[in-house]
Amino acid sequence: MDIMQLLATRRTYRRFQQKAVPADVVADMVEAVRLSSCGANRQALRLVVVQSPAMVAKVQPLVKWAAYLPPEQGAPKPEEQPVLFVAMVQDTSIPGDKDTDAGIALANLTLAAWAKGVGSCIMGAIDRPRLAELLGLGENEALHTMVALGYPAHAAHIVPLTEATGVKYYLDAQRDYCVPKPDAKELARYL
Ligand SMILES: Cc1cc2nc3c(=O)[nH]c(=O)nc-3n(C[C@H](O)[C@H](O)[C@H](O)COP(=O)(O)O)c2cc1C
Repeated sequence: MDIMQLLATRRTYRRFQQKAVPADVVADMVEAVRLSSCGANRQALRLVVVQSPAMVAKVQPLVKWAAYLPPEQGAPKPEEQPVLFVAMVQDTSIPGDKDTDAGIALANLTLAAWAKGVGSCIMGAIDRPRLAELLGLGENEALHTMVALGYPAHAAHIVPLTEATGVKYYLDAQRDYCVPKPDAKELARYL
């Protein structure tokens, strides 16, 4: 897929098929983070790949879905849950702008997954203390975000951001996500 097409379709997915993500796609995601740019090349990020069904089931209740939607619309039902999670972890003993590093790594990871048809949801509304314990994070490790992954069970479309839509995503009649984005003219100024 052309990179612009990949970027347009790499949306947030919140309902998933119950089909495992193959090991080579997981390896691509890890490689995409390994290759990421980071401040002073300091290498302050770690990943925890949660792939055993038992551990995935323990993570599921510790993440919150789709704040703009009522839970019956936004939260996946048991048969729609993600089949894989990746924890983005920062080594707090290393100095620097680790949030920017994490953002770049998240973009690379989710794009590498989407290039193989695996959809994702980056998740910041998470129970960090309980997840840190569950994932066995060390003293110098801070949980930045979780990424929920799986083959999508819905579509997601970009729609024009207008006064009427505001920034809030919504579901259409097919229960597909509609995600308002501004026109490029409103985004960039050219001098
Ligand atoms: C840093 C960050 C944190 C997010 N946290 C959550 C979350 O906790 N739960 C959720 O359902 N979606 C979460 N999202 C997904 C956003 O809601 C989504 O990216 C946004 O609505 C735009 O949709 P798009 O990714 O399809 O462009 C998060 C996204 C980012 C980048």
